[in-house]
Amino acid sequence: MGERLTVAVVGATGAVGREMLKTLHDRKFPAARVRAFASARSAGARVPFGEENLTVEELKEDVFAGIDLAVFSAGGAASLKFSPCAAQAGCVVVDNSAAWRMDDRCPLVVPEVNPHHLEKHQGIIANPNCSTIQMVVALKPIHDAVKIRRVVVSTYQAVSGTGQKGIEELERQVRDLFNGREPENKVYPFRIAFNVLPHIDVFLENDYTKEEMKMVRETVKIFDDPSVKVTATCARVPVFYGHSESVNVQTEKKMSAKEARILLSRSPGVFVYDNPRENMYPLPAMHSGEDPVFVGRIREDESIENGLNMWIVADNVRKGAALNAVQIAEELLKRDLVRVRDRKMFAQ
Ligand code: A2P
Repeated sequence: MGERLTVAVVGATGAVGREMLKTLHDRKFPAARVRAFASARSAGARVPFGEENLTVEELKEDVFAGIDLAVFSAGGAASLKFSPCAAQAGCVVVDNSAAWRMDDRCPLVVPEVNPHHLEKHQGIIANPNCSTIQMVVALKPIHDAVKIRRVVVSTYQAVSGTGQKGIEELERQVRDLFNGREPENKVYPFRIAFNVLPHIDVFLENDYTKEEMKMVRETVKIFDDPSVKVTATCARVPVFYGHSESVNVQTEKKMSAKEARILLSRSPGVFVYDNPRENMYPLPAMHSGEDPVFVGRIREDESIENGLNMWIVADNVRKGAALNAVQIAEELLKRDLVRVRDRKMFAQ
């Protein structure tokens, strides 16, 4: 089946779209043809796919006939508009935006955690938020073993999470500051260079940010367990690639730090990098460009019963976005699920 597939990358000129093309190529995704789409602004531009360059095509409602599978990373507005067109044309969508994540018709999938949720897909599958993905990969084995009751997470998120424009803003501001110029804030409400912003996405009625509430709601949906309580504080830091998270979990049964280290070192997608005596702990600058979710600083929380602390780092553009989406595509292929059962499901 795979060899006959035509695959599209939508948002191919963006930070995640480019990584999706690289990941499809590097993992030898078995596609007969790969096509690249972006807005009219980029039509005719060239984007690398292995040794080749693909010509970027303008995304329009009618482009999906003949495309079997599309991985989208073009933002929520474009996804809301174009994913239903794709599904109606029989093209399965794996979408990286937040547009479909909490829609009951759309599975929200991390292949190491809940691949079985793909079985009931209706044409649109959502890729979770980058911060949620790396957290659930590390927490699922602990949840399965001793049942997690509560999670307290604080994030330190890279500017690439905002896309190419976030990367350019940090570069520009660093250059301006070193050249004695007052930096301009175009993307973030305050300067991000040499600063920390406790503000990602918009503020909601409850004074949390949307990013924080994504971590709360998406974790419950992925674990399929409303009894898991999550509270989050999300901060943007002046790091280009790699999100870090300080995670505290309270579990129903006790798990020692040593047991957690052994369990996680045997878990799919996790790499335990944890030796405080040798200054070994995960760092975004060290692990960007790598696939696994890195876990270190594992220790027992001495202030509560059955508590663990850990430090989780992953490349947000890779495992947090492009890699996870491509792994979903691989899982769809493996399970023979690259088809849309009911093309009218997302009819507008
Ligand atoms: P373009 O470069 O033509 O604007 P990033 O996440 O790095 O900001 O990238 C966003 C990606 O989504 C880019 O490839 C961008 O294309 C694409 N994009 C944004 N809006 C649309 C749209 N309405 N239609 C198609 N592609 C879009």
